[in-house]
Amino acid sequence: MANMSRRNFILSLGTLAGTVALAGCGNSGSKPADSGSDAKKSDYTLVADGKLTVAAELGFAPFEYMDEKTGEPVGFDVDLIKAVAQKMGLEASYLPNQKFDTLVPLVKQGGKADVAIAAITITDERLESVDFTNAYLDSNQAIVVKKDSADTADTLNDASKQVVCQSGTTGNEWITENLPKATCVPVDDVTAALTGVQTGLYAAMVVDLPVASYMLTQSFSDLQVIKEIPTGEQYGIAVSKDQPA
Ligand code: ARG
Repeated sequence: MANMSRRNFILSLGTLAGTVALAGCGNSGSKPADSGSDAKKSDYTLVADGKLTVAAELGFAPFEYMDEKTGEPVGFDVDLIKAVAQKMGLEASYLPNQKFDTLVPLVKQGGKADVAIAAITITDERLESVDFTNAYLDSNQAIVVKKDSADTADTLNDASKQVVCQSGTTGNEWITENLPKATCVPVDDVTAALTGVQTGLYAAMVVDLPVASYMLTQSFSDLQVIKEIPTGEQYGIAVSKDQPA
């Protein structure tokens, strides 16, 4: 997909601190140095004709979540992939909700989804399985606890502390590496994890900062971010190594 870029669109995103650089697929402007020709429809095979079939874990507001009224996926990533599909002359078509830790394997395996977009951090490990588009958003991690909690990053590093995360995420990895003594609890659903922090089942959650900020304002007003962790992550769209176009 990076091959298709002709210019970068800079989109600013109201509630998210940071800017978004999207590799656009427009036709004007000069070619980036590494650019080939625009991908033509004959250069790639799609899971379903005329559609860009998208895999995501849809519990990660404000990036991708279900609109309760329409039952349709909504959010920043949803808008982004719809725009990319439109540029390709396709219609974005979402698979049913997938577990986050299955997304990269699903794209790698092929045949089910053309792309995965789910606030997926570009990591060396994932790059062994799939390709990513140019990064479209900068992100960091956050430690979330109850407002009346006395815990700090230091006190959480203890076997008596259950620290929850979404399975297979960079937050999961951060706990393993940085709170090695804590009891790391990977779960599939971020809302369930935050609810568990709220009820005292878990001492803390480690999750992407923009998601923590958004979800705490929307529905978890009794939780707080006690530490912003500058991991310097970047989100990209995962595509199959077999489908560079
Ligand atoms: N950015 C983190 C990662 O790539 C978390 C992404 C979780 N995304 C989701 N839709 N649940 O590991």
